[in-house]
Amino acid sequence: MEDLKRILDNNRVFASEITKNDPGFFERNAGKQEPHFLFIGCADSRVPLEMLTGVLPGEMFVHRNIANQVIPADLNLLSVLQYAVEVLDVKHVIVCGHMQCGGVGAAMQDQPYGLVDHWLSGIRETRRRHQDELESFRSNDERFERLVELNVLRQVHNLSRTPIVQEAWKRGPRPLLHGMVYGLRDGLLNVLVTGVDSPDAVRRLLEREQKRVGY
Ligand code: CO
Repeated sequence: MEDLKRILDNNRVFASEITKNDPGFFERNAGKQEPHFLFIGCADSRVPLEMLTGVLPGEMFVHRNIANQVIPADLNLLSVLQYAVEVLDVKHVIVCGHMQCGGVGAAMQDQPYGLVDHWLSGIRETRRRHQDELESFRSNDERFERLVELNVLRQVHNLSRTPIVQEAWKRGPRPLLHGMVYGLRDGLLNVLVTGVDSPDAVRRLLEREQKRVGY
């Protein structure tokens, strides 16, 4: 119960500090949300998206799952995406992976992990596609880091292929898609790709991704 008490105590401090700085904050926020960002991140406890980006409540719409996957048949993700793009009209959709991601790590192995293997099959596919490049690295750590990056690039690509984003781009260059990786060792976000706002920009993204592999 000590653990629970700690988070409830912290919650009281959080609420009172915000109210102290801006007495009408929660009342205004309860009325509506106008976030500029949809953040798609990993469920990992070491990647607290709101904390590491310093946003206030109401600024960021968030979807998290194991290894920040954008799976075209995932109704949960698609519902979040549709609401964010078509109702909230977010300007930015950010896919954020992270180093030492357990999901990506599991996809590096050939041993079966059960149910989660279904979820990770897309990362294994990315690993297969980039096998030559990945094998060119000397250490397993480097291969792991590169697969984390490739996984993010692949999810940005998947996002761009959804009918929701395709339709939005017919209306104008919004949302902008971005891919980032969070470093657990330094707490910093590293931008892999930014400002993807059209099918042409996606083509450039893919060329960049494939150039490294050489096909
Ligand atoms: Co992870």
